[in-house]
Amino acid sequence: MKKKIFITRKIFSNGIDLLKKQDDFEVEINQNDTVLSREELIRKAKGSEAIICLLTDKIDAQMMDEIGSNLKIVANYAVGFDNLDVEAANKRSIIVTNTPEVMTQAVAEHAIALILACARRIVEGDKFVRDKKYKQWEPELLLGPEIAGKTLGIVGIGRIGMALAEIAYHGFGLKVLYSDLNRNEEAERTLQAELVGLNHLLEESDFVSLHVPLCEQTHHLISTKEFDQMKDTAIIVNTARGAIIDEKALVNALKSKQIFAAGIDVFEDEPKLAEGLIDLDNIVLTPHIASATYEARRSMSNCVAQNVIEVLSGREAKTPVKI
Ligand code: GLV
Ligand code: GLV
Repeated sequence: MKKKIFITRKIFSNGIDLLKKQDDFEVEINQNDTVLSREELIRKAKGSEAIICLLTDKIDAQMMDEIGSNLKIVANYAVGFDNLDVEAANKRSIIVTNTPEVMTQAVAEHAIALILACARRIVEGDKFVRDKKYKQWEPELLLGPEIAGKTLGIVGIGRIGMALAEIAYHGFGLKVLYSDLNRNEEAERTLQAELVGLNHLLEESDFVSLHVPLCEQTHHLISTKEFDQMKDTAIIVNTARGAIIDEKALVNALKSKQIFAAGIDVFEDEPKLAEGLIDLDNIVLTPHIASATYEARRSMSNCVAQNVIEVLSGREAKTPVKI
């Protein structure tokens, strides 16, 4: 009997090719271009030894049971894994893996892109030109803050936060503040980063970028009170998970110009947006594409495939999720 590998959506082909090269694997890919419903996912994945899924696939305990006791690994094509019940998987001896490291640079670069787009009002400027409003050079058209020498507050300095800190420090001479449960001595030593409490970070930073995972403790970490603490010239960027920001509070903060702008790649209830969000000029919106570089997606595909191959060969996963 061949081992069934089910992939919930078509991903970069290099990983799929690796899996297909394994003689004892039977690789099945969902060809629909939409997210599978709970029932469809169970039906199509039934009997699988491995599932490769996306962050849009929610997999809970009951689904794991219905998919069957052959299931040995759920390989998430994402670094975040809040879509999976890892505890339930562990209880069933199912390994969960994610794709860390390979997308670190892509996400950090996207955070920088959002900060720059907000500060230099790139999207507003583009719209202005397309709307044929550009009649002459103006001394005070679309002004924004310069980046160099300002303060960047990084909420969560894991791999992505650290990569952002490096670009910020070396590329723009930004002063880096960070809040985290753990001290990052490398960031302190090499980038002169300073560990501070979240309140202090919000009060002092010109740019705030979120890089914590979504969990109970980080749900709505940034809400009305936190926007109150920020400078009215501040820019906030979110490339982590939508629900870390209370999106209604964000709409209010932007509407009342409590902060200068926001660059948002992830949403609380994506792809739905909070009411009023798209009516605002002082927000740059991207559709959860922070890891969408050719390089990252190719490496993510390789990573999920390697994890599946290792686990189904009775070896350790390359990048298991530990909680
Ligand atoms: C993307 O959001 C990811 O977690 O990989
Ligand atoms: C701007 O275009 C300048 O020449 O100052």
